[in-house]
Amino acid sequence: MSRWQELEKEYFMRTVERLPVTLVRGKGARVWDEDGREYLDFVAGWAVNSLGHCHPATAEAVTEQVRTLIQVSNQFYSIPQVQLAELLVQNSCLDKVFLCNSGAEANEGAVKLARRYGKHHLNGAYEVITTTGSFHGRTLGMVAATGQPKFQEPYVPLPSGFANVEYNSIEAIKAATTPQTCAVMLETLQGEGGVNLPDDDYLAAVRTWCDQTGILLILDEIQTGIGRTGTLFAYEQYGVEPDIMTLAKGLASGLPIGAILAKDGASVFTPGEHGSTFGGNPVTCAASYATVKFVIDNDIPGNAGRVGEYLMAKLKDLSQKHQGVTDVRGRGLLAAIEFSRDIAQALVMACLERGLLVNKLKPNALRFMPPLTIGNEEVDEALGILDEALSSINE
Ligand SMILES: Cc1ncc(COP(=O)(O)O)c(C=O)c1O
Repeated sequence: MSRWQELEKEYFMRTVERLPVTLVRGKGARVWDEDGREYLDFVAGWAVNSLGHCHPATAEAVTEQVRTLIQVSNQFYSIPQVQLAELLVQNSCLDKVFLCNSGAEANEGAVKLARRYGKHHLNGAYEVITTTGSFHGRTLGMVAATGQPKFQEPYVPLPSGFANVEYNSIEAIKAATTPQTCAVMLETLQGEGGVNLPDDDYLAAVRTWCDQTGILLILDEIQTGIGRTGTLFAYEQYGVEPDIMTLAKGLASGLPIGAILAKDGASVFTPGEHGSTFGGNPVTCAASYATVKFVIDNDIPGNAGRVGEYLMAKLKDLSQKHQGVTDVRGRGLLAAIEFSRDIAQALVMACLERGLLVNKLKPNALRFMPPLTIGNEEVDEALGILDEALSSINE
């Protein structure tokens, strides 16, 4: 254990089982540890480094903004946040933007917005329907929204106002809708819960139900947005438009930012009803503007779609070669491989030893969420390592 790792044990709260590596530098899809060892990064800061590590577009925007103006109060106009908001609106189906600092904060704000909408338009309705297997963040409200008992049980009693119903069942949503319901909140496809894709007609049926009942559809695109699934936003592939959408993770390719986007009709906050000291910070907004502009101008979603198909094909090849692969699934550069046995931790370690970072999604599944700028060569390299790691474990 290195000195940094010993100090961490002494001073840091134990909220995560860390892997025994201290990362000190990154470039593109590669990172280096304190001993100079190189790794191919298929975790990307948990689906955050959309352009890879320290991309020049993001780094230069940060450097210039840091030398110009680092923080102002939201009582004043600020150019980087307006530029970012304009870019997001012009490239989505939404009309208005609120900026914050993380995914959970964006989702909290989205639920507050839906409750304000409920007060104005739905006789005070406040309840939000979410689904099993979802993940919406770690604040108390978002733990209540997240349909996974393992995140909820340590913190009961949880805030009220959420109904968790079965995923991929429009009947379950219909049955849970009451006069108190103001919104349905879904990930366009589920990330943390297992890389679970919606059934073909599910999102369209939810949209229709929301239209019929007058309740809002909130899509959490915190993991799927900004090109990861092959389009700028994943909703584009399902023929539905949300009333409210949340973003974070890949939005600034590594800087902490979150966003709530809403259609004009759902944009009902009035001054003083919501806020955030650092939300819309000039540095993160400059980073985000540069990132999103690069993503759009260089068709990075198209690259994620093409390389994602290649990744999927290669994962399927691997599943033919090795016994015990029960499923391969995903969209774009968000993919998972599932096994019949709980070998994910052993595989993560075997890959790490061979220079590849991958994420343990579940005890029996791995997730791949590399930078969106990778090519087929990086996929070949990563799956070559995974192939070896699988052989070493199955020996
Ligand atoms: C779909 C989704 N929503 C919300 C969150 C929470 O985001 P954050 O960790 O930035 O609060 C995550 C994080 O993994 C996520 O994947």
